[in-house]
Amino acid sequence: MAASRSLQLLTHLSSQIPSIKSKFPSRRFLTRTTMAPSKYSAAHQNPQGPGDARPTAPQIIKDEGLTGKLTAKTILITGCSSGIGIETARTLSSTGATLFLTARNLPKARPALGDILEEGRIELLEMDQSSLSSVRRAAAELKTHCQKLNVLICNAGIMCPPTLERTDDGFESQFGVNHLSHFLLFNLVKDMLLASSAEGFRSRVVMVSSSGHRNSPPLHADYNFVTLPENYSPGIAYGQSKTANVWMANHITRLYGSGNGRVGNEGDIFANSVMPGGIMTGLQAHFDEETEKGMRGAKGLKSVEQGAATTVLAAVGREWEGFWGKYLEDCQEAPLLGEKWTWDGLGYVKHAFDREGEERLWRDSLELVGVTSSPTRDPSSSQNCG
Ligand SMILES: NC(=O)c1ccc[n+]([C@@H]2O[C@H](COP(=O)([O-])OP(=O)(O)OC[C@H]3O[C@@H](n4cnc5c(N)ncnc54)[C@H](OP(=O)(O)O)[C@@H]3O)[C@@H](O)[C@H]2O)c1
Repeated sequence: MAASRSLQLLTHLSSQIPSIKSKFPSRRFLTRTTMAPSKYSAAHQNPQGPGDARPTAPQIIKDEGLTGKLTAKTILITGCSSGIGIETARTLSSTGATLFLTARNLPKARPALGDILEEGRIELLEMDQSSLSSVRRAAAELKTHCQKLNVLICNAGIMCPPTLERTDDGFESQFGVNHLSHFLLFNLVKDMLLASSAEGFRSRVVMVSSSGHRNSPPLHADYNFVTLPENYSPGIAYGQSKTANVWMANHITRLYGSGNGRVGNEGDIFANSVMPGGIMTGLQAHFDEETEKGMRGAKGLKSVEQGAATTVLAAVGREWEGFWGKYLEDCQEAPLLGEKWTWDGLGYVKHAFDREGEERLWRDSLELVGVTSSPTRDPSSSQNCG
């Protein structure tokens, strides 16, 4: 299927979301603590295309005064052989932090990262996220290098393979790569995050989601299109995986955060989700020429440096200390969209926050990746998200 067709389908199917949602039980939305307006809001008002006035990731580090200031921190970033992941790594390297960067294809990643790599401080780990055993191997390798982890950035992703593809473990590829592999990774490293969390810098998880989440909530009845493979839709599958990213951030906070928007006890993990914007990267591999041309001409398009800015802010921005369960876009908390949203509007749709759905996805994901995990906190203690 041509990519323009998948995009049309994606847009078309988004109009069917109400009927998809109606298959699910009603959900409760809790009040969310809202952040103060961002100092970056104005710069995003009138986009003029890549390289315009919108902040870049290096600008965030400069504004935060963090150049060379995070030498005691360790950060793990997935998907560092292309696009936003490379720029996120490059920018965070300037903080002096120790970085572990994952890639499925090391011969591709090494030259792509170039002089970012630095033996003993910025290391590459092999991790193919279409294989749970590869994720387990990478987590085990990480633990041979270090015991601490302050930030996990779940960035790797694929978008809209035109036909139903499966991971090594039999999952639909987008659900498997974008969600389940990150879910397993988090569970394998969460003890490191918990142990490293301390007053002044609580451990953080950043889930790189997308406005594509608007296409679908996770399909509890058949995440992997096993029962009805003919129902596979590239846009719906991407949408469920990207909502799963948001839900995972929300539920991490519920299980491991401290509650009520306050910085809590030692051991907290604060998680947020991010929509980086529209950026020309390897992600558009399935676009046809016409669709790609249309995207290139859009004023809302960002450069890769601008595309990594919100991720970097969520990962190390001081103003984000103690906030969690937020969906961020354009370096600020994004608003809830009304029923009649358009693709160029900023924000998230209602199903992005759904406590019941989040809990169910968490339970199902534990089972799918074969992890038994007991929460360290009472889930009812966190009222801040979802
Ligand atoms: N670009 C945008 O407009 C946009 C918009 C919204 C959200 N996002 C999100 O931003 C994130 C980064 O995307 P990007 O735009 O930087 O795309 P990208 O250039 O294609 O980078 C994606 C990264 O994920 C890796 N990856 C894909 N499949 C993998 C697998 N099976 N195992 C391990 N790594 C795998 C890729 O590795 P290879 O290099 O080996 O392919 C690459 O390093 C994604 O989560 C995406 O959904 C991007």
